[in-house]
Amino acid sequence: MALRTIVFLTLLSVPLSLRPAAAADDLPGGAGLARNCLICHAKDYHDVSPVPRLTGLDAAGIVEALREYRTGRRPATIMDRIASGYSDAEIDRLAAYLAGLHWGEQ
Ligand code: HEC
Repeated sequence: MALRTIVFLTLLSVPLSLRPAAAADDLPGGAGLARNCLICHAKDYHDVSPVPRLTGLDAAGIVEALREYRTGRRPATIMDRIASGYSDAEIDRLAAYLAGLHWGEQ
């Protein structure tokens, strides 16, 4: 491969490789982060799934759950692995956003 082609392909891949991380959190107040949660915790999902509802949980309860999942103190099938991907600051933002959701409008 010609050097020029390699340089071109490398430059082309930089913005593409940066995009997913930026897009995941590009909304204010935790909305971007919470997209990853609402795949499973969606309002209309619970008719067909055992995933617990987040409706009615306050921010402190969500923070506590995620921190306990992260440390393994709370038993989990999947949330231990998911929670371990988030920092304390991200958990705080997620909890504030999710606790403030009007689930009927999701
Ligand atoms: C792959 C599906 C899936 C995704 C994605 C997911 N969860 Fe969960 N969540 C679960 C399941 C299943 C449980 C029950 C515990 C377990 O088995 O891991 C749960 C439990 C919880 C609980 C405890 C609810 C309760 O009433 O005890 C909270 C809080 C929670 N998840 C928050 C989140 C947040 C915040 C995110 C996004 C960072 C998220 N979840 C992403 C499936 C998911």
